[in-house]
Amino acid sequence: MMAEDHRRTLHLAADDAALAQAALLLRAGQQVAVPTETVYGLAADATCDDAVAGIYAAKGRPSFNPLIVHVADIGDVAAFAALSGESLALAQAFWPGPLTLVLPLRADAPISKLVTAGLETVAVRVPAHPVARALIKAAGVPLAMPSANPSGRISPTAAQHVLDGLAGRIAAVVDGGPSGVGVESTIVVAGRGDATVLRAGGVTPDEIAAVLGYAPLRPDLSDEARPNAPGQLLSHYAPKGHVRLNATTAAAGEVMLGFGDVVGDLTLSARGDLREAAANLFACFHRLDAMGAMAIAVAPIPDTGLGLAINDRLRRAAAPR
Ligand code: TXA
Ligand code: MG
Repeated sequence: MMAEDHRRTLHLAADDAALAQAALLLRAGQQVAVPTETVYGLAADATCDDAVAGIYAAKGRPSFNPLIVHVADIGDVAAFAALSGESLALAQAFWPGPLTLVLPLRADAPISKLVTAGLETVAVRVPAHPVARALIKAAGVPLAMPSANPSGRISPTAAQHVLDGLAGRIAAVVDGGPSGVGVESTIVVAGRGDATVLRAGGVTPDEIAAVLGYAPLRPDLSDEARPNAPGQLLSHYAPKGHVRLNATTAAAGEVMLGFGDVVGDLTLSARGDLREAAANLFACFHRLDAMGAMAIAVAPIPDTGLGLAINDRLRRAAAPR
């Protein structure tokens, strides 16, 4: 894998010819970055060990951290995972969209063991982005797709972010413009009569509760026995500078990231809109890094709706490193 490090990375438009080319690259076991509505993903054939190993190599990702399998339609899941009960209800309500379900892996599933990192479950998502879905269909195989950033760096919400981190390490990036949701999918594991959110994301707990008739649990991170999404290292969501939360004014030397009435040097959303703030979050982190901001003050964000996912990422960004 490392011998391929100095390839040129193609920057492809999202037209039919480019999608056909990207599908050929994927079928040949290459790694291609793809726009989704949450963040850009780094795709490879989930059924092929070499192709998946190439994802880990390009990202420098610890191989114990499992990947999400992306399919084009709900009916494509049965080939490798069991979708029933609460999980089926959530899939029918939110797919295609920013929800990932952790499902029992079928014993005969044609999914590379590198995708699941040896677990007996598999994380699955049907993305809503038309380019992602078209590419999965054209490739004709399920695609493993982590966020398309070097491990430990900020998730990409634009093709340029992908190139900044992975140029020369992947075959191509398909440019679908900025990601509309801007934070990763909500990861849920559902059993009989309960559901647990392993990662806050683009689908809110209230939306999940409206489908199930009861509120999903949040994992107790102090309890080792609880299920958890293993890959949520703190630094994954952090800009380089020191981050201070719930600030209403900037101290000397700090760059202010505003929201609503709290005016900043940059703002997540001047009109205090959580959807807009989620869509802007990682682009603001990338911009703060480009500015060389060494100290960052962040305005308070309401802890409701999409604010839960935004505050989850902000708390990780502010955690001691
Ligand atoms: O929005 C998203 O989910 C994006 C786009 C590209 O789809 N993908 C993404 O993938 O965020 P990644 O690899 O950055 O995050 C996947 C998360 C990790 O925290 C991983 O540990 C967790 O999913 N995960 C994967 N398989 C799992 C499993 N079987 N059980 C629990 N957690 C799992
Ligand atoms: Mg990630």
